[in-house]
Formats: sequence, structure tokens, C-alpha cells
Amino acid sequence: MHLTDHLTQITNVLVIGCGGAGLRSAIEIKKAGLDVCILGKRPKSDAHTVLAAGGINAALGNLDKEDSWEQHFIDTYLEGYGIGDPLKVEIMAKESPSLVKEIDQWGANFAKLKNGELDQRFFGAHKYRRTCYSGDYTGLSILKTLLKKSDELNIPIHDNQYVTELLIRENTCFGAMSFNLSSSERTVHLSDAVILCTGGHTRLWKKSSSRKNENTGDGYYLALKAGCKLIDMEMVQFHPSGMVLPEEIEGTLVTEAVRGEGGKLINNKGERFMKNYDPKRMELSTRDKVAIANYKEIIEGRGTKNGGVFLDISHKSKEFIIEKLPSIYRQFLEAQMLDISKSPMEVAPTAHYSMGGILVNPENLSTSVEGLFAAGEVAGGLHGANRLGGNSLAEIIIFGKRAGISSSKYSKKIYQQVRSTSTISLAHENINKFIKNGNELVRPLQHELRLIMWKYCGVIKNETLLLEGLSKIESIETKLKNIDVRIDKYNCEDLALIFDLQSSLVSAKATIISALERKESRGAHQRSDFPILDSAGQFNCLVSMDENSNLKISKVPLKDLNEKLKKIIANSTVDEDIRNKLLE
Ligand code: FUM
Repeated sequence: MHLTDHLTQITNVLVIGCGGAGLRSAIEIKKAGLDVCILGKRPKSDAHTVLAAGGINAALGNLDKEDSWEQHFIDTYLEGYGIGDPLKVEIMAKESPSLVKEIDQWGANFAKLKNGELDQRFFGAHKYRRTCYSGDYTGLSILKTLLKKSDELNIPIHDNQYVTELLIRENTCFGAMSFNLSSSERTVHLSDAVILCTGGHTRLWKKSSSRKNENTGDGYYLALKAGCKLIDMEMVQFHPSGMVLPEEIEGTLVTEAVRGEGGKLINNKGERFMKNYDPKRMELSTRDKVAIANYKEIIEGRGTKNGGVFLDISHKSKEFIIEKLPSIYRQFLEAQMLDISKSPMEVAPTAHYSMGGILVNPENLSTSVEGLFAAGEVAGGLHGANRLGGNSLAEIIIFGKRAGISSSKYSKKIYQQVRSTSTISLAHENINKFIKNGNELVRPLQHELRLIMWKYCGVIKNETLLLEGLSKIESIETKLKNIDVRIDKYNCEDLALIFDLQSSLVSAKATIISALERKESRGAHQRSDFPILDSAGQFNCLVSMDENSNLKISKVPLKDLNEKLKKIIANSTVDEDIRNKLLE
């Protein structure tokens, strides 16, 4: 094959990423009468969406009549420590009830009450029972439903496609370059608009709830290179409960639904230790607080011998556990031969969710690059410094839909599409430059990066650690010059890995420089050298990339709360300390 050969594919809107946000946006584009095509690097039925297990939030008030969109707004915004985009939070809180009902009717088939309404369970830090669910496989039922709907609408989904570059001319996106992971064939996708739905970057940490080759930060790299900005990359959520054993699957999620259904956290002294961290809310405190509590118990010597704490649901009947938590029941039987209806699990914090991401307009999900949109985990602004469990599945369907609508409107308005053959040639060169024989292999470098991020940019950070981490990352970058990447007609894995690694390194640096900039502790961002939430920390961090691929960091003022939202918050009954601090 000649190394500038490619197929050409033309569509109105190109969606990159075949998880929930990508599928939901494509459905809207197709409904608007346009051509849409979805590209994914992983098998379409196994997108990361399947790992959002415990549920999806909607203030339906089916059990707790007092619930309202206003309360969902308050919980999300304030528990995010006031640095989320208030408009984005408001949109989610208002739109989730109708979209959750819609996806249930499309076939997600959530658990129902006797009266036929959706059942709702408690999730951490929600004032009311607000989380709708299918057992503990809610993401899977949503993904399957969206795939079925996409199939009915004949939406083409090409998985096994690795996107290397967005095609940009004059700050306008006109498509993307990809290669096929098994045949190495390249395709230039020409489109009026592109939506990035590529997930986050938490696979960069050694203990992670993401699996191999997913959430490697590719969307962040594509967006930065195209000219977008990233917001609040320091805000990486550590889920309190990942599996501790066996090592090959260390970090695999143990859903919050276990705590939502009554699970207790216990240390090696038999103490229910959350009473020392959040005596009111105990195990259903916010994720940041529970993760830090678990972490402290472990590092201060009150953990299990395998480096975790106990999570116990064995006081509930086996029937109850199998009905509410069927996947977790099987997961422990299969991985550890442990019957959780008889014995406690061992769990420890695991990198779970990227709360920062591409800076977008919250209403139409546009970025600062014309024709480029972003939705789902890859986009920032919703969660602030702490994400409430169950808000991510709401996010993907709400903002996926909105991105689909706005990209369709944009496409319909386009009179003439900008293209550039030199941009396409450069995209080929950027692939070709990696295909060479050297001494460094990608997988070990990926592993090195995961160890670095866990050790130097983990649950609790400080300046010395962060700076050391940064210099270690830079030393991996120099090794890229001597990389060994081989492809043949049927195997392009090395090429995908090197692109993943390139993205991961940039995302890791964006995270560390943002973490250095935020000299305080706020939610998931904990610094031992600045342990206090500081009212001077009321800003967002922005990262951009200059023409020499250097990252630049800046601080910007928070988005204002409008008068109506201010009033809602002033009348709220959440934690007085947090509220007062945030409204100072
Ligand atoms: O714990 C969980 O089931 C995760 C849900 C989420 O991250 O929203």
C-alpha cells in the first residue's frame, strides 16, 4: 500500500465514539433527515457506557415526592463545589426526567414500582431517591437500547476505526482521518460537522475502572490539536470502590449501588469508619469524601491485608442481592470465588471519571472550532470538582441529543464545505512518521505512564509529586523518538497504541499542569500542601496547545449563576459550610 492511499467517505455529520453519547447524537441527526456515520475504535456493543452500572438520575419524585429539578440542580452544583457551569447543570436537571422516560420506553426497561412508575434508588449525596436503574447493569441496558434504535434507523457504525486526526482548515473542522485496526486501510471522512464522543482519560492510572485501550485521552488530544481548550483537567474522579484482586483486573468498578442498597464500609478494626468522615450521610456521602476516607483508612494502616477496606452487604438476603446487584454478585464469584451474600468484599479507590474535558457551549455543545462539537465524558463543565453517581448516564443522553440537534442545524446551514488537500497530506505524514523500527515498545511505556500517574498524580497530590511526575512524563516523550511500530496488512495494533500513548501523554500533562495551578483542595482535587478549600479557588483552569504543541495553562472566572439559580441555592438546605463558602 502506498502511504498516502485512502478511501474517501462523505457524510453530513461524523460522530467519533460509539458509546451512549455518540449513539444518542447520531439518532437525532438521522431523525433530522441527514446522513450520519459513527466511528469507534472498540467493539460497538462493548463501549465504556456498559461500565456505568448503578443507574441514571432523574428528579421524577416517584418515591420522594418532594424531589424537583431544582433539588437535582442544587445537589449537583453544590456537591461539585460550585465550579461547574450552572447552565449545563440546569439543563441536565430539567431535561433528565423526560429523556430517562424516553429511553425506558425505547426498551431500556428500568426497574418499576408496583404502580408501573420507575423505581428510584439512593445514590451518594442525592437528597432524595433519584437514581433509576436496571439491576446493576444500567449502562448496558441503555447502550443496547441505543444500538437497537440506531439499527432501526440504519445508522452505519464502523467500529475498529482509529481516528488519528481531525481535519481542520481556517479553524473549521471538515472531517477526520482514520485507519482500520485490522486492515490498516485509511479513510478520509469528509463531513460538514464532527461530534467528539470519545470518553475520558482515566485508563491512565494504574488502578482504573476503564479497561485496556479505552479512555486513553484520545479525544482530548484531537481537540487540543484542532484548537479547542480543555477545562478543569485536574478534576479526576476516584471512585471509592474498585476491586483489589486479582491484579489483572485491579480497579474494576464495584458499583455505588452496593452502598445505595445498604452496603457498609468497614476497616480492619471492624469499625464503620464513615462515621469519622461524614456521620450524617455515612456510606452515601459524596464520592470524593468516601474515596478519600477509604484511601486514608488504607494508607494509615486500617485497611485489609490486600490493601483495601471491606464493603459488606452480607446482612441482606441472597435473594435481595441477586435481584438488585446481579452483576456484582457474579463478578466476585467469578474473579475471587467469593459469595458476597456471605462475606464482605475488599475494595479500594480507582480512577473512574474525567470531570474536566473539552470546553463547550452548554446549550449546543459547540467548541471554539467551527463545525466541531463534543458531548459525554469528553466534554467538561457539568460536574465541577465532584460528580454525583448516576449523572454520567443522564449526561450522555441529554447532551448527546443536544449535540445531534445542533450539529444537524449547523450542517443544514452550510452552503459550501471547506476542504484542504494539504491538511489531508499532513494527516498521512502524521501517521507515517510513527511507522519505524526502533528500540522502545509502546505497551511498556503505557504501563510506565500508568504507574507514574498513580504515584505522582493520585488521590492525594502535592507540588513535589506533581513536578516529579511531569518530568517523568517528559522522559517518556523523549523515548517516542526511538519507538518501534510495525504494521502489516492484518495488524495495526502498534499504530493504534502509539496514537493512544501520544494522546495519553498530552492528557496526563494537561492534568498535571492544571493540578499544579489549583493551589487548594476541592472535591476530587486533594493537595496535601494546600489542604483547605480556598475561596480564592473559585475559577476554572483552561489548557490550550500552541503551534509548537506546547501546553498553556490559564485561569478564568467562573460562569455566573443567574438570579433565579442564586435564589434556588440560597433557599437550599444542603451542607451550610459548603454553601456559605461557595457563595462568599
Ligand atoms: O458506581 C456506579 O455504578 C457508577 C455510576 C456512575 O459513575 O455514574
